[in-house]
Amino acid sequence: MKRLDGKSALITGAARGIGRGFAESYIAEGATVGIADINLEAAQQTADELGPHAYAVHIDVADQASIDAAIASVVDRAGKLDILINNAALFDAAETVDITRASYDKLYAVNVGGTLFTMQAAAAQMIKQGHGGKIINMASQAGRRGEALVLVYCSTKAAVISMTQSAGLNLIGHGINVNAIAPGVVDGAHWDHVDAMFAKLEGKKPGQKKAEVAAGVPAGRFAVPADLTGMAIFLASPESDYIVSQTYNVDGGQWMS
Ligand SMILES: NC(=O)c1ccc[n+]([C@@H]2O[C@H](COP(=O)([O-])OP(=O)(O)OC[C@H]3O[C@@H](n4cnc5c(N)ncnc54)[C@H](O)[C@@H]3O)[C@@H](O)[C@H]2O)c1
Repeated sequence: MKRLDGKSALITGAARGIGRGFAESYIAEGATVGIADINLEAAQQTADELGPHAYAVHIDVADQASIDAAIASVVDRAGKLDILINNAALFDAAETVDITRASYDKLYAVNVGGTLFTMQAAAAQMIKQGHGGKIINMASQAGRRGEALVLVYCSTKAAVISMTQSAGLNLIGHGINVNAIAPGVVDGAHWDHVDAMFAKLEGKKPGQKKAEVAAGVPAGRFAVPADLTGMAIFLASPESDYIVSQTYNVDGGQWMS
């Protein structure tokens, strides 16, 4: 018996990176996974690569109609929704005096609004089904404290931690556990983008920011998505039924709380 046998999961932003890693690990544990992404072509390719227990779903988490259609397509395809991972997010960095309204609006629409309203739609479906469920939100160590050039992203991730607390308290009465994972630094396309932004903002060479950050991680290296999958499986399994509103650091020792 695998830990997620027969479960139906939806993972946003799962075409690549951490979300893809979560999908792979959930399938290995017996779940069927909707690979949901704004980039449907990439989601389809990932689903094809992950095999018959994965299928692609289009979602723009900043768009309510798209969220509703994605939940409906999971129910069509798998008959139910047991697990949601709110993983899609955007990053930006700037001097405080250079932050634009456009960047603020975009990051809040995806990272905060997307997490809230995808969680809401999933919870409504889980309540209708009447068997509880599991919702996992992706926070970040960036949500634990500010960073000089990362005001907007850090504040969106602090909001994810706070929303996880309130929603968890509200939804546990329906048997829905809402918890979050706060990774530290995870290698992949996201961090390549971050490294390139810091190269511009701080005049660093390509790869320099990554090397400096890796040297500061107590575990001595960046994470890879597989470092996070144990926590994601645990929070989706019955082993976590008594865990409510928590955010777990999986960050090689970068933050303690
Ligand atoms: N990589 C890290 O170091 C790190 C650290 C802490 C937290 N996180 C968080 O983990 C999660 C995954 O990070 P990642 O590194 O895999 O990111 P990533 O940028 O590699 O992947 C994000 C995915 O989300 C999709 N996406 C973007 N906007 C979307 C939208 N509006 N609707 C649906 N999908 C959308 C993208 O197409 C992409 O496939 C994010 O929430 C991120 O903030 C990452």
